[in-house]
Amino acid sequence: MEPIPTRRLGESGLQAGAIGLGCMGMSWAYGPSRVDDAQSTEVIRSAPGLGVTLIDTADMYGPFINEELVGRALEPIRDEVTLATKCGLVVDDAVSFQMHRDGSPDHVREAIDASLKRLRTDRVELYQLHRVDPDVPVEETWGAMAEQVAAGKARAIGMSEATVDELTRAHAIHPVASLQSEFSLWTREPLSDVIPWCREHGAAFIPFAPLGRGFLTGAIKSTADLGGDDDFRARNPRFSAEAVDANQAIVAEVRAVAERLDATAAQVALAWVLAQYEHLVPIPGTTKLHRLEENAGSARLTLVREDLERLDSLPAAAGDRY
Ligand SMILES: NC(=O)c1ccc[n+]([C@@H]2O[C@H](COP(=O)([O-])OP(=O)(O)OC[C@H]3O[C@@H](n4cnc5c(N)ncnc54)[C@H](OP(=O)(O)O)[C@@H]3O)[C@@H](O)[C@H]2O)c1
Repeated sequence: MEPIPTRRLGESGLQAGAIGLGCMGMSWAYGPSRVDDAQSTEVIRSAPGLGVTLIDTADMYGPFINEELVGRALEPIRDEVTLATKCGLVVDDAVSFQMHRDGSPDHVREAIDASLKRLRTDRVELYQLHRVDPDVPVEETWGAMAEQVAAGKARAIGMSEATVDELTRAHAIHPVASLQSEFSLWTREPLSDVIPWCREHGAAFIPFAPLGRGFLTGAIKSTADLGGDDDFRARNPRFSAEAVDANQAIVAEVRAVAERLDATAAQVALAWVLAQYEHLVPIPGTTKLHRLEENAGSARLTLVREDLERLDSLPAAAGDRY
């Protein structure tokens, strides 16, 4: 398969294939039964050959073991990827997914060194603040993030799930290269505020969970398709039994568009995301090589106006996302 087209990550000077790879689910969130390091290593190592070059992880996935996995997997191909990790969330209890925010400058300084060690590299292309800490002025946290660019440990810095106000305050100190927030056919709020902000300020937008944590692919027909109590989604209102039932109506529409295009529901969900902003690179997560290939294929799928209109008018999702 020919590598997929690349996109510029805003004005940061970075670029990456139009579809990236989120590595979280390889080690965290979807239940231990889905963890297979050998298979995940194969997925990561196959990504650049397909043009999937934005590789996303975070120190809190696991915690720490996802960065270790990514570091080992990338060792022979480090220069072929645009590597992104995150700091600012600290796991208190991995079993119950309890965590707290830490935006203190000292935490940022320590976290990047630890991440680089686990990732077996001397720099990341993108260092992201996972969440803004309400107890620390964002200017202080962002100042410490900017120090990492000056030190050569990060090429650019980005935020995650930040508001327009937080983006604006941070950008006044050092350019915000990217914003990573949840965005998909069933989570469209970013279209009304943060995506326009990114467009106006030369920032890339990195949609996380672009497949609705797997739901938009049609793979989850009932809560029995989740990974049991260890699956983060089981705690999520949008994945309650009632919401899963109600939200099948969304999948049915996505499937209908996919059938017309001879594509899969996952490809249609990703193609809709790609159509919303040219400096946007979604990072679908998968632990399976055939799905990596399928998801990359969405970069070649063109939705015509009629498809976009049909998808734009999908019903709102039942259940809050958190
Ligand atoms: N910044 C943040 O706060 C934040 C929060 C959450 C996630 N993220 C990032 O975003 C990335 C993606 O999010 P996500 O993994 O939560 O959700 P997602 O990409 O929306 O969905 C991933 C799920 O979909 C399944 N899947 C993937 N491709 C598929 C296909 N073609 N057909 C059927 N099923 C498919 C995967 O299962 P298989 O493994 O079985 O394929 C997995 O269960 C994460 O890996 C992480 O890097 C960031």
